[in-house]
Amino acid sequence: MTANLYNLSLFLHVLGAAGFFVALSLEWTSLRRMRRAVDVEELEPWVSTLKGLERVGPTSTLMLLVTGVYMTVTLRAYLPWVMVSMVALVAMAILGGGVTGRRMEIIGRRFAELRIGWLPTDVRNLLANPILPVSFQLRAALLLAVVFLMTTKPGLGGSLGAIAVAIGIGLVSMRALWPVPATTEM
Ligand code: HEM
Repeated sequence: MTANLYNLSLFLHVLGAAGFFVALSLEWTSLRRMRRAVDVEELEPWVSTLKGLERVGPTSTLMLLVTGVYMTVTLRAYLPWVMVSMVALVAMAILGGGVTGRRMEIIGRRFAELRIGWLPTDVRNLLANPILPVSFQLRAALLLAVVFLMTTKPGLGGSLGAIAVAIGIGLVSMRALWPVPATTEM
């Protein structure tokens, strides 16, 4: 019975991880297109795509957390890679909901007031804010680092090192991956 529940948890845990990857991939595409949009028509499909994603991120996070805690308790695996991953998952939730989610809500509300035509400067500036790509890069980096921790299970030094390296790569690659939109007035 416990073995079956454990297997089911592991399955749901990996499903949660897959959901997280789907959410980040769609965010990557939508955000890049939104930052390049010059008119309302161009922005519309990507605002809808991100709106459709609103539940995928939180659901995946909850699935990962609940099943992760269950497996940790079952295995009595109170180990550094587990604890570091838990902190990383909470950081990802704060970045996703508090930083990106809050700004996307403001953009969505402002978008709903717009008619067809050129995007106003305030909307272009909201989209061009570097905090959105920073939040994306940090979450993508943490996600990859946690997958590394889950599969290699290092000690405390290795776990923190993996997180630091991933964050470093995420931030260093930002300039190349997220060019500043040419249309903004900052
Ligand atoms: C972004 C967050 C996370 C991702 C992408 C992730 C991914 C994974 C993956 C792919 C596995 C399968 C590894 C394997 O079977 O070798 C796994 C296993 C596991 N995860 Fe996570 N995980 C995440 C967060 C967490 C958290 C927060 C916890 C603890 C609260 C946790 C606890 C565990 C445990 C205990 C296992 C089982 C390891 C085993 O059976 O040896 N995970 N995770």
